[in-house]
Amino acid sequence: MAALMKGRVLQLCSVLREGRHIQSRGRIFQQPIPSLALVNARLMSKESTYEHILVDKKGDGGCVGLVTLNRPKALNALCDPLMIELNDALKTLDADPSVAAVVITGSEKAFAAGADIKQMENIEYVDCVKSNFLAHWDGVTRIRKPIIAAVNGYALGGGCEVAMMCDIILAGEKAKFGQPEIIIGTIPGAGGSQRLAKAIGKSRAMQMCLTGDMITAQQANDWGLVSSVHPPDQLVSEAIKIGEKIATHSKVIVGMCKEAVNKSYELSLSEGLNYEKKLFHSTFATSDRAEGMKAFVQKRKPEFTDS
Ligand code: CAA
Repeated sequence: MAALMKGRVLQLCSVLREGRHIQSRGRIFQQPIPSLALVNARLMSKESTYEHILVDKKGDGGCVGLVTLNRPKALNALCDPLMIELNDALKTLDADPSVAAVVITGSEKAFAAGADIKQMENIEYVDCVKSNFLAHWDGVTRIRKPIIAAVNGYALGGGCEVAMMCDIILAGEKAKFGQPEIIIGTIPGAGGSQRLAKAIGKSRAMQMCLTGDMITAQQANDWGLVSSVHPPDQLVSEAIKIGEKIATHSKVIVGMCKEAVNKSYELSLSEGLNYEKKLFHSTFATSDRAEGMKAFVQKRKPEFTDS
């Protein structure tokens, strides 16, 4: 685990076993599932009201939600309304039983150029405290389905932070990552100093945060910030392919697997190992664990029921 970065581990856990995707029945993650028609109606009606993002469903049977940040004139700067829409779309896709994973992307020029500096320019300290400024940005981390960031172009400041909140990051060949807040007299405010250090180590994170310099997609790949690098025009389809692969597995077990890897960021090794063991044991309470092992022994594909 120490040698592998979070995105690579999650990707590995999710694609380890081939299976057949069956649209979910019953319950996912102990939450009641709204009917597919209802969720689709909600998604479509909200989609038409979103101003700064586009929402679609791609992949086999629409099993991968695709959220495209769409504020091109501002290089997808993350203004408050955009973040509220992003949180809302992700929550809707999380509740959609036909969706197994979500891809977040931007444009070829920018995934996101950071928090909206024009919106922040005149904010006073007291406003930050009173509104708990940026508190709602961690919505991405509360989504239980796997989220893949497909980063083309700039992922700077809050853009890099949102990418790091995702479970897997794929980069386009021209992607640039950076935490340039220091250049405008502030510091990362949505996890950049913390997640970057965990992803690429203290020295490299310090260098990026203290100089404000950007790194290339290749450096991000070499340093373990991203899982892989792709030609820009193939990036989103590569991310969707990973989502489709995840969709072949049991949604219940995928949720447990994501939770286990994420705990490695929060807990000591012994606490994390204990947590993993409890989750591993609880897979034995699911029908999908029984079906998966039976299918292996019977040399056939498993038929998961997400139960
Ligand atoms: N906020 C608001 N507007 C932004 C923006 C941002 N973060 N980044 C770019 N834009 C706007 C520009 O103001 C410009 O708008 P106008 O045409 O109206 O002037 C438009 O997007 C295009 O930008 P540029 O002309 O600057 O494009 P460029 O190709 O010359 O440069 C860039 C691209 C290097 C990304 C440059 O725009 C840039 O440095 N952006 C700021 C990056 C940054 O500092 N991000 C961190 C923000 S702070 C933060 O994110 C805090 C946190 O932790 C949450």
